[in-house]
Amino acid sequence: LVPILASIVAGYFLGALPFGYVVSRAKGVNIFEEGSKNPGATNVLRVLSQKFGEPGRRLGIMVFVLDALKGAVATGWPWIAFKMGVWDAAYEHWDVVSLIGLGAALLGHCFSCFTRFKGGKGVATGAGGFMVLMAPSLLIALLVWWVVFQTTRYVSLASILATASLPVSSCTMWCLWGWPPFSVVIISAGATVFVAVRHRANIGRLMRGTENKFVKKTPEEK
Ligand code: G3P
Repeated sequence: LVPILASIVAGYFLGALPFGYVVSRAKGVNIFEEGSKNPGATNVLRVLSQKFGEPGRRLGIMVFVLDALKGAVATGWPWIAFKMGVWDAAYEHWDVVSLIGLGAALLGHCFSCFTRFKGGKGVATGAGGFMVLMAPSLLIALLVWWVVFQTTRYVSLASILATASLPVSSCTMWCLWGWPPFSVVIISAGATVFVAVRHRANIGRLMRGTENKFVKKTPEEK
């Protein structure tokens, strides 16, 4: 029980760290009131690059890295604790405890106690967690993200489809090689539903044709 409670509490508070909000605030921007009003890396990059150009874009990338890092730490530290023998009694359940840490981090990120229980959509934080849990599936998801984004220029659609590739690739690997643990397949399916629900406003805009697009700049605009 101690590992489970520890990973829930640590995961939630790590996930709740509102990097997107803090970084934008440092530049005098309330990210909850601008662009898509989402405190995730995409909106930080969108809004800050419009206002500050290349340095703003870099801050958006920094928010992605920090948000991914909190997912990776929330997922990875229970595993390290088991490896170091802190909780050896439940060692065979490390994957479940790590997954609980990731789930708690996703909830913390999306419903942060530091920003009145508002938050992002969980994509970067989830990516960090899945990088620790099953890097091969995450790499496939990154490839899916890149292809969809390059073809459509919609980050939201790329994020939804990339997340949806996780249960497909992890389940295929589980069937072929018995790895990753089946619990990872289940949580990736849960993450797909969670991310789609968090993107419901984007899905509405995609269907109406009004979703924000990252249009490539012409050489004159650069
Ligand atoms: O991860 C969030 C992204 O998929 C969409 O962000 O700001 O366009 O709603 P946004």
